Amino acid sequence: MKFQLIVTLLPVVLPLAHGAPAHRDTPNPGLRGTDSLVGYSPDNSGGSDSRPDIKYTLLPEQKVDPENGSYLDFVKADNPQPIRGSTGSDDPGPRNYYYDRINSDKLAPPGTDHGQTINAQWPMGLSHNRLGIDGAGWARQENTNVMPDATLMAGVDMRLAPAGYRELHWHVASEWSLVLNGSCRIQAVNENGETFIDDVTAGDVWFFPPGLPHSIQALDDGVEFLLVFDDGDFSEDNTFLATEVFLHTPREVLSKNFGVEVSAFDKIPDDELYIFKGTPAPADIEKQNVTTAAGLVPRAKSYSYHFSEQPAHEVAGGSVKIVDPLTFPIASNFSAAIVTVHPGGMREIHWHPTSDEWTFFISGQGRATLFTAPDSATTFDYRGGDVGYFPKSNSHYIENTGDEDLVFVEVLQAPEFTDMALGQWIASTPKQIVSDTLNLSDDMLNNLKTEKQSYKGLGAYLPITCHDPLRLTRS
Ligand SMILES: *[C@@H]1O[C@H](CO)[C@@H](O)[C@H](O)[C@H]1NC(C)=O
Ligand SMILES: *[C@@H]1O[C@H](CO)[C@@H](O)[C@H](O)[C@H]1NC(C)=O
Ligand SMILES: *[C@@H]1O[C@H](CO)[C@@H](O)[C@H](O)[C@H]1NC(C)=O
Ligand SMILES: *[C@@H]1O[C@H](CO)[C@@H](O)[C@H](O)[C@H]1NC(C)=O
Ligand SMILES: *[C@@H]1O[C@H](CO)[C@@H](O)[C@H](O)[C@H]1NC(C)=O
Repeated sequence: MKFQLIVTLLPVVLPLAHGAPAHRDTPNPGLRGTDSLVGYSPDNSGGSDSRPDIKYTLLPEQKVDPENGSYLDFVKADNPQPIRGSTGSDDPGPRNYYYDRINSDKLAPPGTDHGQTINAQWPMGLSHNRLGIDGAGWARQENTNVMPDATLMAGVDMRLAPAGYRELHWHVASEWSLVLNGSCRIQAVNENGETFIDDVTAGDVWFFPPGLPHSIQALDDGVEFLLVFDDGDFSEDNTFLATEVFLHTPREVLSKNFGVEVSAFDKIPDDELYIFKGTPAPADIEKQNVTTAAGLVPRAKSYSYHFSEQPAHEVAGGSVKIVDPLTFPIASNFSAAIVTVHPGGMREIHWHPTSDEWTFFISGQGRATLFTAPDSATTFDYRGGDVGYFPKSNSHYIENTGDEDLVFVEVLQAPEFTDMALGQWIASTPKQIVSDTLNLSDDMLNNLKTEKQSYKGLGAYLPITCHDPLRLTRS
């Protein structure tokens, strides 16, 4: 790349290096200036000293020490500026006010941000939307094409209109799904020929192992769901579709395979269907049960989990509930938590020791600082519809920055949901070691201990796994 650049620049640079180039006619003079504009011209009087008069009002939080770093709500701010304390300066433009207003931690980052981390944010609103035929739905995805460092997981947000299908298909990756709105019927057949069919509704979860063929059909109200795949390179456009396997097999082979005439395949669709409208599913699910000698997929290996019916664990700053292989065994490496953070609340500073975290923001708004060793930190602002990504052991918090509940789902590639909390670590370390290291006052360290017990007193300690607190704090 560098080499190519030098080579292309050479013809331009060389004549300059040898003094003024010989005058020649400029091609397309209407599009170009003249060589009298080349730098250090005696006629060049330099720029004007007058600065543009930019009118703006700083928020009170912008006037304090940048290390304070509190959230700047620029949505309705009068001409937001990249200024924190004595750092930064005004911005006459060019700029994109829409992005600047909803990404204040990018425009005017906290003074504690430093260096360069990975990009830990992708708004699905910037993903190409693949529209289904006949108003049947749409799908947009996040994968390593748009988030190159999110290598462990990829995600899709998909909508199916009433009776809309996601065509019968299978894929190489594992698929974990959370229903976001409405309801749908899912069905599958496993390698033993055992059959599975179930109806799932908003808040429920399903899982299909690699290679397992399945379909999804929206019920009366349509459905929207999130798909998470255990491969950051996954593309929803590269799945094995029923239509395509029929289209790309010799008809004579199909005829042998199914023991029917070649003409039986005369009317198969001449292209993939992907997302399309079908006959509405019968309300009575039993009418679609397929009973074979192999029987049903046993309950212990069920592909669905009625997570919507699991009560959330209420804590001071919000609520949380977990689904992982301890209760949903078929999804043997998917551990997830749905977290609700009330306004003013925060999911405390933590990291996941065993897995990267793929996060989808469902509603509300919040921010997170991703800290990466040794000293890089970036703060990201998220809203409903955004994807977040926090690599294994990289610490982060999620703070509600709005005035309504912030709801998100954290997904890990792990057989159990675990996290390591900064607060619990420090509070559970001998005080002398902490104060020798961080120079924190005895007063503060004594309070820490009290506070930790009050977390437990508030019922914020999660009993689901042995040592992961997943605590939420209220500021
Ligand atoms: C830091 O920010 C918070 C919130 O804006 C504010 O209440 C507090 O006074 C600030 N602290 C200092 C030292 O400026
Ligand atoms: C789906 O979204 C619509 C529109 O926001 C809402 O009215 C409805 O209650 C949602 N349904 C479910 C099951 O979440
Ligand atoms: C139909 O499927 C459901 C869910 O798998 C199962 O509970 C039920 O027993 C099945 N009914 C028949 C008639 O196979
Ligand atoms: C879970 O996924 C991670 C990341 O791909 C992998 O390292 C680990 O071996 C998997 N664990 C199990 C039990 O499959
Ligand atoms: C610790 O803090 C005190 C003030 O509370 C300061 O005088 C001292 O220099 C600090 N020590 C170190 C090692 O930073």
